Amino acid sequence: MEVVPLSDALGAEIRGVDLSRPLDEATVAAIGRAWEDHIVLLFRGQELAEDRQIAFASRFGEIAARSRPPERRPEGVDYNDAVMMVSNVKRNGRYVGSLPDGEMWFHHDMCYDPAPSRGTFLYAMQLPSTGGDTLFANMYRAYEALPEGVRDRIRGRRALQIYDYAMREQVDISGDIAKYKHHVQPVTISHPLTGRRALYVNPLITARIEDMAETESRELLAELFRFTENSSLIYTHRWQVGDLLMWDNWSSCHARTDFPAGEIRMLRRCVIKGQALHE
Ligand SMILES: [Fe+2]
Repeated sequence: MEVVPLSDALGAEIRGVDLSRPLDEATVAAIGRAWEDHIVLLFRGQELAEDRQIAFASRFGEIAARSRPPERRPEGVDYNDAVMMVSNVKRNGRYVGSLPDGEMWFHHDMCYDPAPSRGTFLYAMQLPSTGGDTLFANMYRAYEALPEGVRDRIRGRRALQIYDYAMREQVDISGDIAKYKHHVQPVTISHPLTGRRALYVNPLITARIEDMAETESRELLAELFRFTENSSLIYTHRWQVGDLLMWDNWSSCHARTDFPAGEIRMLRRCVIKGQALHE
């Protein structure tokens, strides 16, 4: 097994591992160490059936069931609760998957959950001719890049994370937010496995800093969100069919670039359970 860094920001390609076969303990341990070191791991050229993807992910944690309620899923599609199709394909006029078209702002998967997932495993099955790239930001670096004055201002702070998966932009929090998934999380976390400090806010899901005047909260968040423009801490992944990416949801967040609406994009996702996060 070979570990080849993908960029200065984060990420490594793992070569010499066939994920369609059962892996021995030593290989899983080596992948786990590389994951902690590099945040995002890429395995290219994989032929991965659904059950093998789930089996691989389950070596790193307990598989989390997907969250969309059965009544909101399209009919005529055979669902395994452990996977979610990220796709713009329609059947009988309804999308067969989630997060169908277009750009997505930077976010941490499931940061609105009391126990945000540890990692996401995404496998590319069909891709558009252009676009639909995934950008990953190294949130350890995002924290380290903050001016000292800003670090002082966010120490001990908590922020509201709120998300409606039917939307592309931030939820309006001026009304009743009970119907949306939401949770208050620390603005910075210490990573439960590496012990390193990471910034834990993002422009799609983080709505306000708690116990702070609205204007001040908005201005401070705008300053924190400047990590999205810092190319030195971002890696852009251009997908190939057969890519399996696994990423750490605690120390990174990710975004998607736009792609042509008429072209098919289909990826298969599964997620492993996490835990409560603390400053
Ligand atoms: Fe995501």
